[in-house]
Amino acid sequence: MMWSRIIKNSITLGQTRIASSLVPGEPECPDIKTDLPGPESKKLRKELGAMQETGSVEVFGDYDKSIGNYFVDADGNIFLDAFCQISCVSVGYNHPELLKVFNDEHNMKCMINRPALAVFPGITWPKRIQNLLSQISPCLPNMTLMMCGTCSNENAFKNIFIAYQRKKRGENVDFSEEEKKTCVLNKPPGSPNLSILSFLNAFHGRTMASLATTHSKYIQKIDLPSLNWPIAHFPMYKYPLEENKRENDEEDQKCLAEVEDLIEQYDKCGVPVAGIIVEPIQSEGGNNEASPHFFQELQKTAKRHGAYLLLDEVQTGGGGTGRFWCHEYFDLETPPDLVTFSKKMQLGGYFHTLELTPKLPSRVFNTWMGDPGKVILLENIIRIIGEQNLLEVVQNTGKKLKCNLHDFEKEFCHLIDSVRGPGTFLAFNAKSVKIRDQIIRNMKCKGVMCGGCGIQGVRLRPALIFQEHHADIFLAKLREVLMEL
Ligand SMILES: Cc1ncc(COP(=O)(O)O)c(C=O)c1O
Repeated sequence: MMWSRIIKNSITLGQTRIASSLVPGEPECPDIKTDLPGPESKKLRKELGAMQETGSVEVFGDYDKSIGNYFVDADGNIFLDAFCQISCVSVGYNHPELLKVFNDEHNMKCMINRPALAVFPGITWPKRIQNLLSQISPCLPNMTLMMCGTCSNENAFKNIFIAYQRKKRGENVDFSEEEKKTCVLNKPPGSPNLSILSFLNAFHGRTMASLATTHSKYIQKIDLPSLNWPIAHFPMYKYPLEENKRENDEEDQKCLAEVEDLIEQYDKCGVPVAGIIVEPIQSEGGNNEASPHFFQELQKTAKRHGAYLLLDEVQTGGGGTGRFWCHEYFDLETPPDLVTFSKKMQLGGYFHTLELTPKLPSRVFNTWMGDPGKVILLENIIRIIGEQNLLEVVQNTGKKLKCNLHDFEKEFCHLIDSVRGPGTFLAFNAKSVKIRDQIIRNMKCKGVMCGGCGIQGVRLRPALIFQEHHADIFLAKLREVLMEL
């Protein structure tokens, strides 16, 4: 697999790696100088608030001064960032190799002359796509680029429906006149009754179809009409996993049986399931993991029913789990039919099989269809991941973090439990929502950013350059916070 090439290329470099920070010039520790948010952030928020809704703004970033794992805010407060713009920062802030990228005149021209890529791609574009496919594709031959995670899922659904109908219609059969007329009026048979099966607590985005497969928080959905598509339970495991194997295996079986039932039910009602969308680890919904067995069986179920399997790696992709794609851990018998991405990859998109490529032009289409500037950044991020051996860094740092978090859940068993996740893609639960919110707030006041997930989860989403000495700082601050609660 291509991602293993990334690791191999860099092992020699890794062996001679020194223990200092992978991004030079990082501060040694967090430094909080003001109340949070500080006066400058408050002022900027008021200014912006006169023009936009700013309810979710926490602090304003000083992206000139932020460096490596350290986020600097408008008031000069320095945070160790273990949340990284909701899991988007790949190789840290202002990585020296990325700062050089647009000094190159060709790269700069690619960025400023942004083409409508589906109509006027640049002369280097085929090579760029080929290079991305050969380096990071999860063994899927085609790639479609988009902008964000939501629009990647939204458009991937279209590929699924188009391929599903083609299969039904037969390769050489044309659209009927009735189909052409009815689709314009949103009516069958032109607009067929088809569905995508998704899971409770999933998050796949916020546009209409992707929102119909999102089931985490009511505030994301309320007042918005939606699609009556099937929703199955995702396994909810008991921790520690080793002590709850029997119950967790039963949980897998129960959820898989429900998937099978729902597919049959929807088929009988005339709304067949054309695809299944699932996160390798439900991220916003609580860092909920499922076993390789669950995913292997889910893939078999999808195949048995002629439904396509879409793995949403928008949050899990790009290395935070210690593998470039989280589903590499699942040992699936064939690659999934589609894999969507965004966040650490800098732009959205999806890999897919040839079967999922529409035969006619403009069926999956928008003006930009990607962004060369972001692709150039991604190419360099992939190079840096190899040169700095970052998947191994993630695995080592992750081991240290997880091992210490396990100690904390014993020492502070009245406060936290259920430590989980691979690599640095980690989470634990607090005993109540109130305690969870206190942990996140108090960590921030001590200069460490982490995030919430699910009902009472705390999640870590550091950059791939988060090393063991950063983990030491994180753990020391967390211990202080837990002691003080
Ligand atoms: C798994 C997953 N899918 C899709 C999305 C939506 O991505 P975006 O916010 O880029 O639209 C997210 C965002 O958090 C996500 O975590």
